[in-house]
Amino acid sequence: MFILAAAGSAVGLGNIWKFPYMAGENGGGAFILVYLACIFLIGIPIMMAEVLMGRETRQSPINTMRQLVKLSGASPAWTMIGWMGVAAGFLILSFYGVIAGWSLYYLFEVSAGTFQGTTGEAASAAFDGLLADPLLMIGLQTAFMAVTIFIVARGVSGGLELAIRWFMPLLLLLLLVLLGYSLTSGGLAEGLDFMFSFHPERLGVEGVLDAMGQAFFTLSLGMGAIMAYGAYVPSNASITSTIFTIALLDTFVAVAAGLVIFPLVFANGLNPAEGPGLMFVTLPLAFGQMPFGAIFGGVFFLLVSFAALTSAISLTEPALAWLVEDYNAKRGRVAVTLGVISWALGLGTVFSFNIWADVQIFFGKNFFDTVDFLANNTLLPLGGMLIALFVGWVLPKSTVVGQLGFDGGRYALWQVLSRFVAPAGVLVVFVYTVISTV
Ligand code: PFF
Repeated sequence: MFILAAAGSAVGLGNIWKFPYMAGENGGGAFILVYLACIFLIGIPIMMAEVLMGRETRQSPINTMRQLVKLSGASPAWTMIGWMGVAAGFLILSFYGVIAGWSLYYLFEVSAGTFQGTTGEAASAAFDGLLADPLLMIGLQTAFMAVTIFIVARGVSGGLELAIRWFMPLLLLLLLVLLGYSLTSGGLAEGLDFMFSFHPERLGVEGVLDAMGQAFFTLSLGMGAIMAYGAYVPSNASITSTIFTIALLDTFVAVAAGLVIFPLVFANGLNPAEGPGLMFVTLPLAFGQMPFGAIFGGVFFLLVSFAALTSAISLTEPALAWLVEDYNAKRGRVAVTLGVISWALGLGTVFSFNIWADVQIFFGKNFFDTVDFLANNTLLPLGGMLIALFVGWVLPKSTVVGQLGFDGGRYALWQVLSRFVAPAGVLVVFVYTVISTV
């Protein structure tokens, strides 16, 4: 159940929507290489740290931090990790609901056959039409948030388990079908070249920060979501093997989504740096041209919406678990309150694509870009760095070894990663970015 829930949290819009467009905006190959390095050298050790912390206390991230601070005699300032996570959860959920709303829109439109025989231009125009319609976007966002909150309020276990057991294999299967189609679309060579040839000159400084932020985002790291789920991991399960399974699955889905999307981009003369619309333009186009496209497409966007749902659910878990623990609050009431706050914050993202498109909030960024930057490029990496430092330097070794279940060489390797490599990696990227922006 933990593997399913954590994989459900990790695999989401980040893999299918965000990874391809970020890789596209940052020039492809070099971005992907930095991203993979971040997953393996920084992401996996931190993911293990989150699970071991959650399993040690079996409480919400905020109370986990409180208890572990006591256990290690450390400064209460470390509990900041828990609070930052709650804040990041709100920020991410706010825009996540909006983008998931887009996938609901495509679920309806593609299955209705709207895109049959469409062209690249028409698919772009359809997406622009959606962005220009704030009321439609709010309606879709509201529908998605309502389903999320309904499930969170009812308690996640039964429904979630069933959904993930079915949708994950189906999603993989459909990605393979799409891959087969995309490989024969005519843009394969260019697509592969874009994704896998190393052109560091195309990767700007901000691209490196983006790659790291994306590694955290895609594994749901740095904000306590995995820590909160870690509280439910059975004591006899191996943390290492479950985390590797989840991280590999997550990486596979992201790379497969890229392999589907980029050949289509080049075969249809589209722009890889199109931005957030990349998947919503290329995939309807592909479905519009393939046999039974309305059916495949409908199922695909249904699965993407499910993937988004299981991730959205996990975004509420750190705040929810804490409020239920400390205030004995009713799950339902807390779920609705959290949902309404995120929904309202999400309106800013909706307007960023139309009436507020030119309103700059922070260093020339509009509302959506600011929220995205704050959460993904700042709070998640910082939270992750603090988690790695806490587990690497502060938590007693006996606790860590007891949870990980190994000592000796493997422990030494893990310790080097969590003490030095992960925190230094985050720090170097931050400093590098600040120096080059100022
Ligand atoms: N990992 C999710 C995705 O890739 O779509 C997004 C996410 C979920 C981030 C939960 C953070 C989180 F706590």
